[in-house]
Amino acid sequence: LLKKMTVGGNGTSLDYRNKVIMAPMVRVGTLPMRLMALEFGADIVYTEELIDLKLMRSKRRVNAALGTIDFVDRSDGTIVFRTCAKERQQLVLQLGTSDAERALSVGKLVENDIAGLDINMGCPKEFSIKGGMGVALLAQPDKAEHILATLCKNLSIPVTCKIRILPDLNDTIKLVQRFATTGIAAIAIHARTRDERPQHAPHPDFIREVAKAVNIPVIANGGSKEFQNYKDLIRFRDLCGATSVMVGRAAQLNVSIFRKEGMLPMDDIIIKYLKLSVDYDNAAHNTKYCVQNILKELQESPRGKQFLQCQTLQQMCEIWSLGDYCYRKQLEQKERGNFGRREVAP
Ligand code: FNR
Repeated sequence: LLKKMTVGGNGTSLDYRNKVIMAPMVRVGTLPMRLMALEFGADIVYTEELIDLKLMRSKRRVNAALGTIDFVDRSDGTIVFRTCAKERQQLVLQLGTSDAERALSVGKLVENDIAGLDINMGCPKEFSIKGGMGVALLAQPDKAEHILATLCKNLSIPVTCKIRILPDLNDTIKLVQRFATTGIAAIAIHARTRDERPQHAPHPDFIREVAKAVNIPVIANGGSKEFQNYKDLIRFRDLCGATSVMVGRAAQLNVSIFRKEGMLPMDDIIIKYLKLSVDYDNAAHNTKYCVQNILKELQESPRGKQFLQCQTLQQMCEIWSLGDYCYRKQLEQKERGNFGRREVAP
């Protein structure tokens, strides 16, 4: 029997089956990287984790000069979340929260601009756990369930969560079965426990057993270490017996991992990424961070060292001969009235 599909406020419904997905990644999953992932063939992209309180104090603003929708922090004018029509049907916003009411108020604020809402239940960082967010929610299943049920009941878009496995397989299965009754449209599972780090081998067998035990789509995550190309993603998905696969670190390093036709060289990625950063006026420090992740050890090369000195998009662009491109675009944006990144909303 087909479950009732959740239809979004924008008249679409997101199907999580048979999808290749870019994982939520703090600082990496901002608009330029998401657009690149989609262009290379990802079916769904997640935002970086956004904290509920931060989004709650932001104001939605249409930025006509850039063709974006911005959620701008009322207190300091920084852009908390920027999106655009191109990604709307494929965009999942990941929320860091520990409270159903707060989560719902954010859900209401963003539901017409995204295709799905995900709750982070996997982050093991101290900041998250102290705030009762991320992986802390797995130790409080009642609360976690209440958050998911509240969102599923009151939002027009599908709701999902991303978890880690528990040390015991049966506990993991029981937990996912419980969450599945809340009405979530899918669940992403990072095949490591809260105490395991990226260098530890993942546990695809856990995902395989969970996927057999529930009838919502399971999204397998945690295989990046072994990913050299697109085929490897599919192999990991199949190894996990999952319907979909989610890719983090391999995409951070080279987002063309989503290309069925094969990966592109690093310089092609950087050039494309810089252009998109300029097109969407991405924060320079954010662009710099992402390019550093792509360059990796090449940061030690003469060009890498020159790059580390850069503070503006213009400076970064010049290294890859995009100086004119950046200059022209920024001028154009100014003429069209781009209100800049730091203007404080009244
Ligand atoms: C992450 N991860 C993560 N997870 C999450 O639920 N919300 C987040 O905001 C982040 N942020 C983040 C930043 C960076 C730089 C990395 C590398 C990872 C975890 C990520 O989504 C994923 O679960 C893991 O990286 C495991 O998958 P891969 O990398 O093996 O494909």
